[in-house]
Order: sequence, then structure tokens, then C-alpha cells
Amino acid sequence: MTRINRNYLKLPGSYLFSEIGKRVNAYAAANPDKKIIRLGIGDVTQPLPSSVIDTMHEAVDEMAHKETFKGYAPDLGYDFLRNSITEYDYKKRGCNISADEIFVSDGAKCDSGNIQEIFDADNRIAVCDPVYPVYVDSNVMAGRAGDYIEEKGCFSDVIYMPCTEETGFAPTLPKEVPDIIYLCFPNNPTGATITRSELQKWVDYANDKGSVIIYDAAYEAYIRQDDVPHSIYECDGADTCAIELHSFSKNAGFTGVRLGYTTIPKKLVRDGVSLHSLWARRHSTKYNGAPYIVQKGGSAIYTEKGQSEVRALVDYYMENAAYILDGLKKAGYSVSGGVNAPYIWLKTPEGMTSWDFFDHLLKEVNVVGTPGSGFGPHGEGYFRLTAFGSHENTREAVDRIVNFSYNL
Ligand code: MLT
Repeated sequence: MTRINRNYLKLPGSYLFSEIGKRVNAYAAANPDKKIIRLGIGDVTQPLPSSVIDTMHEAVDEMAHKETFKGYAPDLGYDFLRNSITEYDYKKRGCNISADEIFVSDGAKCDSGNIQEIFDADNRIAVCDPVYPVYVDSNVMAGRAGDYIEEKGCFSDVIYMPCTEETGFAPTLPKEVPDIIYLCFPNNPTGATITRSELQKWVDYANDKGSVIIYDAAYEAYIRQDDVPHSIYECDGADTCAIELHSFSKNAGFTGVRLGYTTIPKKLVRDGVSLHSLWARRHSTKYNGAPYIVQKGGSAIYTEKGQSEVRALVDYYMENAAYILDGLKKAGYSVSGGVNAPYIWLKTPEGMTSWDFFDHLLKEVNVVGTPGSGFGPHGEGYFRLTAFGSHENTREAVDRIVNFSYNL
């Protein structure tokens, strides 16, 4: 008889954003007259930059003629895109990454879930707590996380690195040495960042202990402060310990179009094997490449016009972040994030649990956010709002929240 992968049964409940979707849809169905404002999942709301749209239109036309038609894309991505990524995201920042160290994909979510496949099931992973749930869930599915401990809300074999108000919502180097360390800066969900010199300590630690850092840089376009690194490869020695994930979703609005890339330097070797060659093998076996039209569209952000359009998009969302941060602070909330990141992290009022506050906000002011406990045990008592809404909706949501009297 067929047996299933029983590791899936260890996952508690449904995926965080599916659960939120279910609750919101149920409320909306029962209250069709209410205007619900969604600041939960970090999905963008503004249209794609015109340079992207124009380039995608041209690419569509190319598909209409046999001289320019394209079939399967190259496994690891088209050179025109990999070269531009190297030039703009790395060389301009002084990072020594070459085009053949870049793997183009359909987004950072898939890559962050899939990358664990190239590591043995016995590796110990370390994650920030709170954390983007994909890192943990994908390791649970692979049988690497141990058992779920209900009363603690965590997995027995995962090293959780608490990120609290006291640590500025950044992790500290773990005492128990992990084999794989997931880091995400600017951070989802807290919006926290670390400086280049702090990140250097992680790189030195990983090189010293032989660990690998999986560095999620999906939100780097939101960085405003000079001492915050855009890439882990700005640190010395990162090319021998780090894999980096990038997304076109949050900077250029590709959440529905799907494009991202993963960087694995050729110098990154563990267990005597190049991780670059393992990921190349995996990628070419299981993946047929992001669509030509999408890769063409993505390449448009690496032009003068594209760069300024992306800056304008990011500025648009950062205006929301400032409005949320300012409005909630003035109303007495304890808030952080929102300075180098599109996420605002706030303490729930009146000692409410994260899910209680979620239900309360949904019902009382019809605003959707994300309960902090959905990101891990240290997220309990916190709540995340995204800056990815429209200006109008964001302002209305903040005004509704501050006008509702909570005991802060
Ligand atoms: C989030 O809300 O945390 C993000 O949208 C998740 C993602 O990018 O997959």
C-alpha cells in the first residue's frame, strides 16, 4: 500500500496566510456591506513599472514569429538577465559575484522552500523567532525539524534564535552550533535590520564552524540607511559560507508574475562538494526556467528608467510605512520596523494574544493584519502590518485603528 510522507502530518494547522485568508473570507461572506482593508499578506498593490510592461509586450510579440520565438529557457536563466543582475545587484556594490553563480527562478518563496533539498536530513537548522514560516515548514516536510511541541509552539530539532525587543529584534549567535542558518534582512516579519559589521560576525561564525547561511534579501530595495548591507556578499568571506535569495516581487511588483534568483558562489563547498553544482543539478532536473517573457520583463528593471521606476514604487510603499509607524506611535503603540522595510511590527494592546487582536481588528475596524504568533513563539503578543497597500487604504486603516480606543 502507498505510504505518505508522514512529516507533513507534523505541521500544525494550515499555512499562516491560508488561515488568515479563510478567516477573512468567512467574515466578508457574513458581512458583505463592510469595507475590509487588507494589510496582512505582503502582497503589492501598485501596477508593474511601465518599462517592465513595455518590455514584456515586446517579448510577447517575439513569441509570435518563428524567427524570434523561444521555447524552453536555459535551465539556469537567460544570460541577458544574469549579466544585468551581476552588474546592478553585485558589481555596483563591490560584490565579486559572476553571472554563472546566479540561478534565475520563479521567485524567492519557492527557492527558500526548495534549497534545503541539497542538504542531508541530519543537518540542524537555526531560524530567527519570529520567522517567515516557509523556512521551518519546508524543513518539517523534509523530516529535518523533529516533532512539534504543542505547548512551546516549536519543533524539537530546530534551533530557535529569539528576536526580541531587547535584541532590537535581531538574533544573537547561537550557542548550539547549527549546520544551516536562515537569516532574512531587512526582516520579515519584524522589519528589523542589522549593520554590515553585525552581519560580518555571522559570516565569520559560519566560516569558523563550517555552517551555511541562507540569506534572504527579498526586501533589500527598502534599505535607506548606509550601514545596512544590501547583500551578504558585502561581507568578507561570505562567498565561502552563504547562499543568497532575491525576489522581484517586493521591489518591482512581480508577486503575480513570479521571478527571483538564488546566488551560490562557486567557492562554497561543504562535505567536499560544491553547493553550486548540487543546486545546478537540482534546478536542471526539476525546473524548466522562468518564462522568457517574464525574464525579459525582469531585465527592464536593470535600465536607467527601470531603476528610477523601482525607486518610485519603493518610495510609494515607504510613505505608507511612515504613515503607519507615525500614526501608531502617536496613538501610544509600541512599534518598530518600517524604516528599512515594508513591515511594521507592533505590540498588541491590552495584553491580547496575536490571534485575539487579529479577530478584534477584523471585526471592530475591518482591518486585516498578520498575527505575530503565526511566525513563531516569540511573535506572540505582536502583530504585523504591511506597507504594501494603496495610500488611501493605508491611511484609512491607520485612522480606523487609532480612533478605536484600546488601553495601551
Ligand atoms: C509575507 O506576507 O510574509 C510575504 O508576502 C510572504 C511571501 O513573500 O511569500
